[in-house]
Amino acid sequence: MLIDAAHLAEARRRIAAASDILVLTGAGISAESGVPTFRDALTGLWARFDPEELATEDAYRRQPGLVWDWYEHRRTLVAAAQPNPAHHAIVALAAQKKVTLVTQNVDGLHQRAGSTDVIELHGNLFANKWLDGCGRCEAAPDDGRSPPRCIHCGALMRPGVVWFGEDLPRVARYRAEHAAQTCDLCLVVGTSGMVYPAAGLPGVAKDHGAGVIVVNPQPSALDATADLVLRAPAGQCLPMLWPPCAAAPA
Ligand code: OAD
Repeated sequence: MLIDAAHLAEARRRIAAASDILVLTGAGISAESGVPTFRDALTGLWARFDPEELATEDAYRRQPGLVWDWYEHRRTLVAAAQPNPAHHAIVALAAQKKVTLVTQNVDGLHQRAGSTDVIELHGNLFANKWLDGCGRCEAAPDDGRSPPRCIHCGALMRPGVVWFGEDLPRVARYRAEHAAQTCDLCLVVGTSGMVYPAAGLPGVAKDHGAGVIVVNPQPSALDATADLVLRAPAGQCLPMLWPPCAAAPA
């Protein structure tokens, strides 16, 4: 995809001038790693399910096996994927400036690229927890049952992600809002901007005087908030926006 040269130059200038950058990422940043975006995730076997119906506590209580298997499918996919040049570029940026990285992704690819202190607004696919646990829950040795249950109380293990209708982790939300209020530039990468409160962060940044740049090959709900929209895939675009760091792979 050809990126508009004037937009690219303007984005470079703004990023070079910024000293405190909030980077907000969504599923699109992992698209070039082969991880389907949230709204594209239900392909093949899963095509007939609506993500907003699978990713709820209610759905889990009704059909734990089905929902657990869907997460197992996503875990397998993500485990086989590798961070792409966009993930690596953010590591390079953080070596040069103050960067607060806030992600809606649960795939852990930022961390695998080398980003530290990633603020995960929606939890992590690989961190399970208990649903209505007894406080001393222990998983039964793998008996092939799906999902695992506690040997003491029979509670269900559940994925450590935020489901629709659930609150965001409090500390992560607080830190993300603080970063939005104090940054001088908000760089929004690969999100449709449809799910709040994450989608509200660029608006908070703008209200506090920061510039907003969106990177997305498709129109998004955040284009109207942005000062500048780069219509390009993240893996192609981000490495062109600032110098690489020595540690980042070519
Ligand atoms: P979505 O699947 O809603 O949107 C993905 C965005 O990435 C779209 O706007 C695409 O145009 C864009 N995109 C696709 N390929 C791209 C690429 N190569 N480079 C850059 N952008 C690209 O994903 P999110 O916005 O992350 O929440 O979804 C937000 C939340 O909705 C998710 O975290 C999830 C879901 O409900 C929870 O699970 C709580």
